[in-house]
Amino acid sequence: MENVKLTSKVLEGRVALVTGGSAGIGYGTAKRLAEAGAFVYIVSRRQEQIEQAAVQLGSSVRGIAVDVTKKEDLERLAETILKEHGALDIVFANAGGGRAIPFDELTEGDIDHLLGVNIKGVILTIQTMLPILKDGASVILNASITADMGLPGFAVYASTKAAVRSLARSWTTDLKHRGIRVNSVSPGVVPTEGYRTEQYMTDEQVADYADRVISEIPVGRVGTPEDIGDAVVFLASEASSFITGIDLVVDGGQTRVYAGNN
Ligand SMILES: NC(=O)c1ccc[n+]([C@@H]2O[C@H](COP(=O)([O-])OP(=O)(O)OC[C@H]3O[C@@H](n4cnc5c(N)ncnc54)[C@H](OP(=O)(O)O)[C@@H]3O)[C@@H](O)[C@H]2O)c1
Repeated sequence: MENVKLTSKVLEGRVALVTGGSAGIGYGTAKRLAEAGAFVYIVSRRQEQIEQAAVQLGSSVRGIAVDVTKKEDLERLAETILKEHGALDIVFANAGGGRAIPFDELTEGDIDHLLGVNIKGVILTIQTMLPILKDGASVILNASITADMGLPGFAVYASTKAAVRSLARSWTTDLKHRGIRVNSVSPGVVPTEGYRTEQYMTDEQVADYADRVISEIPVGRVGTPEDIGDAVVFLASEASSFITGIDLVVDGGQTRVYAGNN
């Protein structure tokens, strides 16, 4: 079935930031946010890729090279957004990733990398944007269904995503006085660039994996970046104004139908 997009301009006049926006889920979400009427800043480390992605996404998207693990990059970004748009209404802290690494092969560098981008990067992103976030803003963090699972080789990655869910719940209280809502989304299987670049899978391996996993997904297909984008648009919009502190699982039902999962 073709993905049906939310067509109304529910985010008209809003300003959004998507980290990790040059590819995959970040790119698809930036697309949906822009379609819903928002002006969207997308950031990622490689300048050429992020600028190219912004051009592809259209005139209401601007790409800036930022490494979310570097405070000075994020401070420069906040200054730019402040100068150009005055404030931010929406942040989707999405930059991150990971791959299966057998426990006995996991290096100190792997641990630093996973915790660095998936936890420290998320904390620094939200903390650095706080002064330019409007009261009543919506913050959405990207977690993962792996936080509910015991997948071989994914222990550290999954634990970073459990931490992301926990950050969302704690920040709900920390930011309550400013009316800022904080939620996370947990995507299921969404074949992206990351399967090749982070997980070193070939196109054929990605296709084989997707074919195999479909039998475990009640809706009968794997996810698309835009599926996650639609959930983010909902959490960013007034339609979710009574929702904060949740983790919204967007996995076609995969983790809802097996014993042992939440
Ligand atoms: N795809 C899935 O099945 C799936 C499922 C559950 C959760 N997730 C989560 O969804 C998020 C996006 O995954 P994806 O599959 O869309 O990945 P992807 O296709 O590899 O895209 C990752 C994006 O993040 C950027 N990035 C990586 N490190 C960064 C850093 N330090 N600072 C700024 N940008 C950075 C990348 O660009 P540069 O390399 O140029 O920086 C790229 O734009 C991740 O947090 C991942 O854990 C994915």
